[in-house]
Amino acid sequence: MEIEDVRGREGRWQRLRASTHEAHEQLDKAIMASEPFADRDRYGCFLRMQYILHRDVDALYLDPVLGGLLPDLADRRRLGLIEKDFEDLGLALPSPEKAPLFGASADVPRAAGWLYVVEGSNLGAAFLLKGVAKIGLSENNGARHLAGHPDGRGLHWRRFTAAIDGLEFGEVEDERMLQGADEAFARVREIAQEVFA
Ligand code: HEM
Repeated sequence: MEIEDVRGREGRWQRLRASTHEAHEQLDKAIMASEPFADRDRYGCFLRMQYILHRDVDALYLDPVLGGLLPDLADRRRLGLIEKDFEDLGLALPSPEKAPLFGASADVPRAAGWLYVVEGSNLGAAFLLKGVAKIGLSENNGARHLAGHPDGRGLHWRRFTAAIDGLEFGEVEDERMLQGADEAFARVREIAQEVFA
């Protein structure tokens, strides 16, 4: 009920969704065109993409300021699960030369935009799990990081988007948040190009 109301008001989440819709479509197409689930080698590329992205944002999940604004933030971390997926597959972790993008403290609105993108990717992961099943992997083996929350992906996501809608941002902060989300999609696109090249 409360969630429907938030949707009805075309809140901040709806703006994020609308302004990144095109970037998501393009990313989705680019990744699927790279056949990430064709075999375990291709899936290894996909896992590298996930690792590099989640390593970039990992510090945000542990940021106490963000943790006070967004529910269960630390529990939403998926980097550890991605590392387990590498282990399941007997693959070595990537060793990027650059330091992770985010460090100990981050601009809150920009970080919220980034987190929207990374958390949202777990919604689409239900679809990706079907792809990995074809190469014999699952949420218990090799694709742990694609698993949904025990309460259900939808509910877990709505808790997050409701918190995003409830943030006390003014216009300037909202603009920085939208920029953060754009930046995040651009970065994922860049990583995808790199890993699938
Ligand atoms: C091949 C790759 C992908 C496919 C097929 C895909 C598919 C989907 C689908 C089907 C949804 C909607 C789920 C639902 O409403 O129940 C979704 C949502 C979303 N995905 Fe993806 N996705 C892919 C990759 C990504 C990546 C790599 C990211 C970012 C790192 C991402 C970010 C998002 C976001 C932010 C949403 C939530 C949109 C909203 O606000 O409703 N996706 N995706």
